[in-house]
Amino acid sequence: MTDTYGDTLGWGILGTGRIARSFATDLREVPGARLAAIGSRTPGSAQAFATAYGGYDCTPHASYEALVADPAVDVVYVATPHTRHLEDSRLAFEAGKHVLCEKPLAVNAAEADEMVRLAGEHDRFLMEGMWMACNPVVRAVLDQERFGRPRQVHADLGWVVETSPHDRLVDPALGGGALLDMGVYVLTLAHLVLGEAAELRAVADVNEAGIDLDVAIAGRYADGATAALTASMTSLSPRAATIATDRGLLTLPSPFHHPGFATWTSREGTSEQITGVEPLIGTGLGNEAAEVMRCLREGLRESPLVPLAQSQTVMRQMDDIRSQIGVRYDADRSAEPTG
Ligand SMILES: NC(=O)c1ccc[n+]([C@@H]2O[C@H](COP(=O)([O-])OP(=O)(O)OC[C@H]3O[C@@H](n4cnc5c(N)ncnc54)[C@H](OP(=O)(O)O)[C@@H]3O)[C@@H](O)[C@H]2O)c1
Repeated sequence: MTDTYGDTLGWGILGTGRIARSFATDLREVPGARLAAIGSRTPGSAQAFATAYGGYDCTPHASYEALVADPAVDVVYVATPHTRHLEDSRLAFEAGKHVLCEKPLAVNAAEADEMVRLAGEHDRFLMEGMWMACNPVVRAVLDQERFGRPRQVHADLGWVVETSPHDRLVDPALGGGALLDMGVYVLTLAHLVLGEAAELRAVADVNEAGIDLDVAIAGRYADGATAALTASMTSLSPRAATIATDRGLLTLPSPFHHPGFATWTSREGTSEQITGVEPLIGTGLGNEAAEVMRCLREGLRESPLVPLAQSQTVMRQMDDIRSQIGVRYDADRSAEPTG
């Protein structure tokens, strides 16, 4: 199916939570982007969101069904808990919309694979909202010709999560836990730098509700490269990353998953600040939106910056890690063969 777009591309945001608000704020700075509609399960939230973040022509919808049916919406940004990503993306595909879906792509690999299958069946664009991979500084540090062969990746992401037991971050029914929320970034960074892992071993502190509060992962990659990766919901962790190469050291300061700059220190001891070629748009969620729009205008069905195979690989890695640390979600049961 060939799509034609006018001067602006219409975004519809599905869900009115924390990241939806951040995304809508950045979207204002993306050239050619328009927040056409917002969908919520409750009319009041949709109206309040439209008033706060939309322009005069942003339509509030009191259901996700109404949002995806809106003809002014070209692409739907799915900003609901992980356990809903498949269901909400399916809704959008069936209405003929393209999808940018928040990270992780789904709650497990089986659901991620089904999302990719549905995107293909409906000939629609799909991308995981892995904004780190669209960040100009992160893209710049992946230049091996310039910085040498990466040998070790250290990456950490965490903060103290103080919230109600019903918050999606800590609710097992909504895919809670540090691995899926923060660990997805450290695993994806290691994948971007070192390629697919040959082996990952993990340990974790799992709470009484059955979710991982802290997780540490050791990874082995091609040619003997290694990674040490951590995620935490109980501590203000360093939130930084380093990439050690045979020529020097790249440091991504906190917050490494959306840095404003990186530092390169050569083996000879010279130091240099690394910035991206393209400017940062807002906090970097704007660069992610701009990448989706670039792909749509070029008729692509996935982004070369966040390939679907990469998102699916990282989902499989997280399934494997969860089985090592003993974290299981309801959605895993339906993915298991019966009989
Ligand atoms: N890229 C990033 O930096 C980043 C940061 C944070 C989160 N995320 C990802 O974005 C997704 C949403 O995270 P969030 O922190 O924005 O979550 P949140 O604040 O809890 O908001 C989620 C929204 O989803 C909707 N929703 C639908 N069913 C729900 C249910 N059963 N329970 C709770 N909410 C439900 C609600 O919107 P309505 O009530 O309006 O329907 C709610 O406001 C997650 O997959 C997360 O991993 C990404």
